[in-house]
Amino acid sequence: MTKIIIAIDGYSSCGKSTLAKQLAKALNYIYIDTGAMYRAIALYALRNKILTADKFDVERLIKSLPNINVSFSYNSVTNQSETYLGNENIEQEIRGIEVSNQVSKIAKIKEVRAKLVDIQRELGKQKGLVMDGRDIGTVVFPNAELKIFMTAAYKIRAKRRFDELVSKGDTTTTFEEVLQNINSRDNDDTSRTEHPLIKANDAIEIDNSAISQMEQLKIALDLAKSKLANQ
Ligand code: DC
Repeated sequence: MTKIIIAIDGYSSCGKSTLAKQLAKALNYIYIDTGAMYRAIALYALRNKILTADKFDVERLIKSLPNINVSFSYNSVTNQSETYLGNENIEQEIRGIEVSNQVSKIAKIKEVRAKLVDIQRELGKQKGLVMDGRDIGTVVFPNAELKIFMTAAYKIRAKRRFDELVSKGDTTTTFEEVLQNINSRDNDDTSRTEHPLIKANDAIEIDNSAISQMEQLKIALDLAKSKLANQ
């Protein structure tokens, strides 16, 4: 059966990964969270003091890139694909506020993007893939058969991210911090020179501020089915 590539781009915390996972499950496709790849490199830079509160040694990061091995492995217990740095499962650690606050500095670096885009394109060779990020429909897969651009009101996005952190046991991060983090990441994502977040001309926009996850999934699945019917 023909398989397609579904590219999902959009702002931070708009539910891209929720929709991407549900779509992948419904279509029996692979799901790739590209934000996790940038987060993994941010974690490496933080742990190795390449990136600290007052300095960022970009040259050292670029030199280290060939030694940074980011991959995904399917966990049959959680039914999720989880992110690895080398042999270490870093799925939980990359979601914390420290990585969230620093990751956009990493995502600005041309060499980091080039490395990760190569891996992402390799993963898409077989098609049958749902990938979410910021540049998937514009840079990674400009010929993706279906491109979705997601948006949601800023405070709704912050509330969702805050609730997610709380549900994972984070008792220290405040709602104000999350709001601040989303605001600054939106600015960083849209204003950077390398692969800024922009809506591809042929992307279909879904604003999920006022629709349920089920409604959103139905819209996206209908779009995917109609694309598949035309292959
Ligand atoms: O989707 P996320 O919040 O996990 O993404 C983490 C960071 O990585 C965010 O600051 C945007 C950046 N990113 C990117 O620049 N390009 C992508 N394809 C995915 C994420």
